[in-house]
Formats: sequence, structure tokens, C-alpha cells
Amino acid sequence: MLCIAAITFILGQGRAFSAEEKVKPLKPVPKAYANKNMPKGWWTDLEIIEEGKKIFETTVLEYEFKRKTRTAKEGCATCHGINPQKDRPKKRGSPDFRIGERVNRFSDSYWFWRVSEGVAKTRMPGWKEKLTEAEIWKVIAYQHTWSHGNKPAIHDHKEIEHSTQK
Ligand code: HEC
Repeated sequence: MLCIAAITFILGQGRAFSAEEKVKPLKPVPKAYANKNMPKGWWTDLEIIEEGKKIFETTVLEYEFKRKTRTAKEGCATCHGINPQKDRPKKRGSPDFRIGERVNRFSDSYWFWRVSEGVAKTRMPGWKEKLTEAEIWKVIAYQHTWSHGNKPAIHDHKEIEHSTQK
């Protein structure tokens, strides 16, 4: 018992990433999204980031899940926002965007695709009906600051994966 508690404690500490996740390549981006790129200058534009923060914190989506047996009204913050007591995302299974090892791998197109379409069979809903393309880029620009100590930074990392569907 004590042993399990100790392991849980250790694992809960860092912003680390499980070994399994680390080696698994990201899913290839569908062709329709392959050429999507952050508008020029937006990664570091303070106004854009501020607008993105507002979207992250206030925009909610009503959606169905579990074969339409349940509905929820949620926004990025209610899942990916950090629970300060537990120092982890509010909703279990929601990726922690403070982890650079995770975020540094996202290409612009991967990131945009995931937010637009959501992730099938998970709680991550698609936002393309709710947010415009510009709003999606804004929220991404804001989210990106989390892996850079909450500061604006260009998203230019050697770890970026560029695979697209054939
Ligand atoms: C109801 C909870 C929920 C909401 C609301 C939500 N997410 Fe997610 N999100 C998740 C979960 C769970 C995953 C992990 C899916 C998986 O297992 O691949 C995820 C995955 C993602 C990913 C892909 C991460 C990766 O590693 O591939 C991105 C990007 C993302 N969310 C951004 C957002 C943004 C931006 C918003 C708001 C516009 C948002 N999410 C709203 C739960 C949510």
C-alpha cells in the first residue's frame, strides 16, 4: 500500500510524460489540414494571445457523448485548465499543455486539426462549428504560452513532427 502511495506521489510530481506516450508518434494529419499554419506573427502577438485566453476560459460548447446518452457544456478551461490543488488538468485524461515534451512535437497543422475536429472516442470535442479559424489560432497561440512559462514564444522546435496522411 505504502509502495503504491509512494509511486503515485513520485509520478504526480513532475511535468513528465510517460515513456509510452513519448515514443508513440503523433497521428498523421489529414490532407485537408496539412497546409494549415499559424498566421504570421501570431505566436508572439500579445493581443492575439489575450484574445485566445478569453476564448480558452469562456467559450463553451454543448455536445453529446457516450453514444448521445449524455450531454455536457464545456470549454477548454474546464478540461485542460489546471486544478491548483492537484497541479494537474481539471478533467482526467486531458493533456497537460505545460509539458514542453508534448507540445513541442505538435506541428501547426496537427494542433489546428485536433482543435477543429476533436479526438474521436475521447472527451475532446471538435470546435470547428463553434469557433472561426482565426479564433482557433488565437486559442492555440494562448495555449502555447503554457509550455514556455506563460510567456509568448515562437513555436519552432526540432521535435516538431510533420507526418500527414497519404
Ligand atoms: C470535455 C473536455 C475537453 C474540452 C472541453 C477540451 N478538451 Fe482538448 N482534449 C481533451 C482530452 C480528453 C484530450 C485527449 C484526447 C486523446 O486521448 O487523444 C484532448 C486533446 C486535445 C489536444 C490534442 C493533444 C495531443 O496530445 O494530441 C488539443 C490540441 C486540445 N485538446 C486542445 C483543446 C482546446 C484548444 C480546447 C478548447 C477550444 C479543448 N481542447 C477543449 C479534453 C477536452
